[in-house]
Amino acid sequence: MELAEAVVALRAAGCVHAEDEAAAIWSTFATAESRAGAVASRAGGMPLEQVVGWAEFGPVRVALAPGVFVPRRRAEAILAPAVSLRPSARVVVDLGCGAGALAASLAALLPGAEVHGVELDPVAAACARRTGGFEVHDGSWWSGLPASLTGRVDLAVAYLPHVPTARLDDVHPDFRAHEPALSVDGGPDGLDPLREVLAGLDAWLSPDGVLVTLLERDQVPTGARVLAEEDDDVVVAFEPRRAQSCWASPTT
Ligand SMILES: C[S@@+](CC[C@H](N)C(=O)[O-])C[C@H]1O[C@@H](n2cnc3c(N)ncnc32)[C@H](O)[C@@H]1O
Repeated sequence: MELAEAVVALRAAGCVHAEDEAAAIWSTFATAESRAGAVASRAGGMPLEQVVGWAEFGPVRVALAPGVFVPRRRAEAILAPAVSLRPSARVVVDLGCGAGALAASLAALLPGAEVHGVELDPVAAACARRTGGFEVHDGSWWSGLPASLTGRVDLAVAYLPHVPTARLDDVHPDFRAHEPALSVDGGPDGLDPLREVLAGLDAWLSPDGVLVTLLERDQVPTGARVLAEEDDDVVVAFEPRRAQSCWASPTT
């Protein structure tokens, strides 16, 4: 298959950036057979990042595989506010690190920090280990982290599953068919994972530790500390002790 044929096939399949996608496939795969296979997978709806096995995110390239959550560019909005809030963080944690987009970025942006990621999906955790730059732990939220980190986390970040279950059909079809529900389903109002994570703040964060996450505007609880806003996305900080009270009075 020639590059021009690949562009035609991708465009026919509805890929808006067919030239760029074909170029990414060509730069990743060397043989005619592997390139043709990749074009077929992409034309069949698999996200480009899963097809080529990588995604650019912040300052890093993240390793990906079929079936693993594709890092969203919108989550890059977490990075700058998190770094400027805790530039001297010694212990950094990414809860639900997926393939490691946030954790690897923070390891690059905060070179003095010890960075840990925790992930429940073993396929995603394997990608995170290939992405590298931080320590990956298998397990659920805080309980998957080493006990030695209790009360020592200066900066926690999380891009949590936050789509209300009834709205899962709104997720782009390419992603819906190729990412596990575990990575996007946030329960009835989309906020179950956030509630689980907030319940661990007092125990796991250091006295001046903070959790920085990204929510949709209509999910932000009253009293939450807003760090940045863009379109419908809001970067929010939660501190120990204050988190539960701020949660007690959601906006909706
Ligand atoms: C929205 S994705 C974000 C992944 C990654 N942080 C990123 O930005 O690319 C949420 C991630 O949380 C993981 N996850 C879901 N439930 C979890 C749990 N109980 N403990 C740890 N990770 C979990 C999912 O497998 C998924 O990788």
